[in-house]
Amino acid sequence: MELEVAQKPSSDFEVIGGAPAIDRLVEAFYRNMDSRADARDIRAMHAADLEPTKNILKLYLGEWLGGPAEYSKQRGHPRLRQRHMRIPIGPAERDAWLACMNAALDEVVTEANLRDRLKGAFHKLADWLRNDLENEHDKHR
Ligand code: HEM
Repeated sequence: MELEVAQKPSSDFEVIGGAPAIDRLVEAFYRNMDSRADARDIRAMHAADLEPTKNILKLYLGEWLGGPAEYSKQRGHPRLRQRHMRIPIGPAERDAWLACMNAALDEVVTEANLRDRLKGAFHKLADWLRNDLENEHDKHR
């Protein structure tokens, strides 16, 4: 029915501006990680060459925002918590990562509604990735 087509909601992938916008977001994110003083410790946890990591994050975010499922095709189920287990993530690492991402979102995403929603969603995701129980207040949870 024509009406259904007209009402089909746009995915966040479309609203943000597709793959070119995600490229800009990820480039800005790693530029921030490379240059911000508050990101020095998490930058040191990454490989010297950020290019391979950049490409993987672009694929992941494209899929996460409702675009093509390229990440899964190339790397299997995301299992993000499992993939971050070797990396100690406490509140400081979470907040440094989010500072880089929030600044990248401010730079790249012009649509205020989407930008705020994405900040909230990244916050939840980064908090869920915390695995450094030494730095938790409620470590017996
Ligand atoms: C919303 C939060 C986050 C998202 C969406 C995210 C996403 C990702 C993805 C998709 C990968 C690649 C996984 C793969 O190999 O397929 C990755 C790797 C990695 N992440 Fe995260 N991550 C987040 C938070 C963090 C935080 C808080 C840290 C803190 C240090 C972190 C550090 C790393 C490191 C060190 C790698 C390995 C990269 C490399 O080997 O160069 N991530 N992350």
